[in-house]
Amino acid sequence: MTTLLKRCILAADLLLGMNSLHAADGGHRGTVLFDRDWKFHLGNENNAQDPAYNDAGWRKLDLPHDWSIEGAFSKDAPATTGGGALPGGIGWYRKTFTLPAADQDKSIAIDFDGVYMNSEVWINGHYLGKRPYGYSSFEYLITPYLHYGATPNVMAVKVNNDQQPNSRWYSGSGIYRHVWLTIAPKVHVGHWGTHIATPEVSTQQATVVMHTILRNEDEQAKTVSLTTTLLDESNKPVAAKTQQQQVPAGDSITVSTTFTVKAPRLWSVDRPYRYTAQSVVTAAGQNADTYKTPFGIRYFKFDVNKGFSLNGKPLKILGVCNHHDLGSLGAAVNDRALQRQLELLKDMGCNAIRTSHNPPAPELLDLCDKMGFIVMDESFDIWKHAKTTYDYHLYWDEWHARDLQDMLRRDRNHPSIIIWSVGNEVWEQGEDNGPGIIRELRALVRAMDTTRPISTANNGVDKGNKLINSGALDLTGTNYHESMLDTIQQMFPGKPYIGTENTSALETRGFYDMPADSIRRWPLDKGAPGHMNEDLTCSAYDNVSAPWGATHEEAWKIIKRHDYMSGMFVWTGFDYLGEPTPYDWPAHSSYFGIIDLAGIPKDVYYMYQSEWTNKTVLHLLPHWNWAGRDSVDVWAYYSNADAVELYVNGHSAGVRSKKGDELHVSWKVAYQPGELKAVSRKDGKVVRTEVIRTAGAPAKLVLVADRNKLQASGTDLSFVTVRVEDKDGNLVPDADNLVHFSLTNNGFLAGVDNGNPVSLEPFKTSERKAFHGKCMAIVQARPQAGKIVLTATAEGMAPASVSLEVR
Ligand code: GAL
Repeated sequence: MTTLLKRCILAADLLLGMNSLHAADGGHRGTVLFDRDWKFHLGNENNAQDPAYNDAGWRKLDLPHDWSIEGAFSKDAPATTGGGALPGGIGWYRKTFTLPAADQDKSIAIDFDGVYMNSEVWINGHYLGKRPYGYSSFEYLITPYLHYGATPNVMAVKVNNDQQPNSRWYSGSGIYRHVWLTIAPKVHVGHWGTHIATPEVSTQQATVVMHTILRNEDEQAKTVSLTTTLLDESNKPVAAKTQQQQVPAGDSITVSTTFTVKAPRLWSVDRPYRYTAQSVVTAAGQNADTYKTPFGIRYFKFDVNKGFSLNGKPLKILGVCNHHDLGSLGAAVNDRALQRQLELLKDMGCNAIRTSHNPPAPELLDLCDKMGFIVMDESFDIWKHAKTTYDYHLYWDEWHARDLQDMLRRDRNHPSIIIWSVGNEVWEQGEDNGPGIIRELRALVRAMDTTRPISTANNGVDKGNKLINSGALDLTGTNYHESMLDTIQQMFPGKPYIGTENTSALETRGFYDMPADSIRRWPLDKGAPGHMNEDLTCSAYDNVSAPWGATHEEAWKIIKRHDYMSGMFVWTGFDYLGEPTPYDWPAHSSYFGIIDLAGIPKDVYYMYQSEWTNKTVLHLLPHWNWAGRDSVDVWAYYSNADAVELYVNGHSAGVRSKKGDELHVSWKVAYQPGELKAVSRKDGKVVRTEVIRTAGAPAKLVLVADRNKLQASGTDLSFVTVRVEDKDGNLVPDADNLVHFSLTNNGFLAGVDNGNPVSLEPFKTSERKAFHGKCMAIVQARPQAGKIVLTATAEGMAPASVSLEVR
């Protein structure tokens, strides 16, 4: 089903807040969000799939839900610190609902966007099936097993994430993505039943090829009429066609057609223009099914010498890799949290996302289509050869073809997707079965999409890489090995190049190790010389990286240097749960993010902003509280200026300009408390001024909400940053005060965090320590209009409040 359609109906469902579903209006398809009013039990239960099972004692909740994020961190968690040190286990979900008698002649299906993992689903005691892979979306047709009228239906879902470790990062546990119920006429567009491609595009016209699956669940063959209309952004038809077909009973057929769109508006990262294909299915003159597929018209090329271009214009791919968790919200998907991540990244100049290392939530792809991000959509981190004891290798033989095909079917209409990645750093790069597997995966992809290049993300950067040598990849995609990248084209000639994963720098927001220009590559073994700081901090001067990676500046300089490099995907945009690197307890979340786990940018965010956008940037680091230090390294990232002058208490410490490929300027200055001021100038005129003052004792809290107006959808969020300031309004850079939150009834705290990878404080509570002067409270609005007042208090400090309007 298309997410556009889902959205319209989502609003209706929320307004009605219903548990009893309405008949599909006038025979039209109805898709309702099926997230509300589930029962949950943590632990295994006998016979919980039985409709007669008594779940009265179970917890009531709404999906999406991740039970792991509600648990306590533990050194002994089977997931290990690599998996986030949170609990897994077995969980059961049940939902009881009724259907009106009028729906008896309909086709009814249930769609799960993602359940981690090993889900098994029953309807009214009938077993529907199992899906081991926690990132796949799937549908069950449930028509034959349903009751109508007063008799209730019971859906039961068992989720088994007990065998751990099964992931190299935090997975979450439960029905962590949306669930949808579709009520359609018996003859309708099949599941993910449209496929749209734009093989020929010019400014004069575009060819739009569309295949539509028509499914007939009736007991008689039907003569079906399919009318497809292409609508522009203002809903104006730009092309239309009607086709008649016979659809056999209990069967599906595919109807193909080609349209010409004159003077097409092209989809791009700057103007992500979308069309909609509206399919109306009529059988015997009635029972219309209406299905909408958003799509985009664009063309692109990966060139061996010139790199990537979109719609004929060169475009460097400025990407980040992200895992799926949303920090303190865990894996439970939330549209606004995803949107906010993309807003922060867009503001930094990022134009591409790699869905490392698995199919993402469908909402992420919708947002990338709408907001203008290029996507590398990735299927697997593991093939046959295990990376952790219980990971996907256990399911590979039986499931890989189905999981890959389902990703392709679900995702191939998204204009944002421009690369299919079928594997990340799989062991088979160096194994004899590698070429056979990659050829098979290629054939699977090509059977469903011929328009996008196929790649893998390779850390075997040598001539012996069996996947690259197989010839089955369209791009050479490499991870890390930055020191080899200047000559990578000689090693792998003839194929366009993309940095599928770069950098792996490690940073703790707000913490600085000097000298700033000495780069540390942490050995992973505890006790090894040069191992990470004892307190598990990593310097935020961009002077620490994993031994296999590079600092942000090192990696970007190389990718920037060569036109043939299509671009890069920085590991990672956001910090994520798990993979602290090194893995020493109590660290349990990553240090790789440009933005921390709480969603607060680290300093290097502004390096990218100065390089990847046209914005006028001036960012000064570190803070200016260095009592006991003689000399301090000061850096500035800047753009749209010729030079920056630094002043300490009004005295110039010198003017600096970036030379050669430098990405920042720096000074070593004698520390004196007071004022550090940077002034950037162009042609002698002041462009920007940035001031940091030595902070005094913590005196007050200041709350900054990313949005003060929320929708009464029940899921909307405001991210409220808490700043601990001195009496003069300076951020106190070492403040770690415990902040308590309280709020009025119309909202609740969805999570609290401070971005500290070693904090063992829970996320689902109403207090958080500040970390380097800041923490975050994520407020979720209930589905009623009104006002939310969030108040923050801390001992010895003036409290602060912020008012949020819910409409
Ligand atoms: C890569 C891997 C990522 C992550 C990263 C950390 O090798 O593909 O998933 O583990 O290293 O540096």
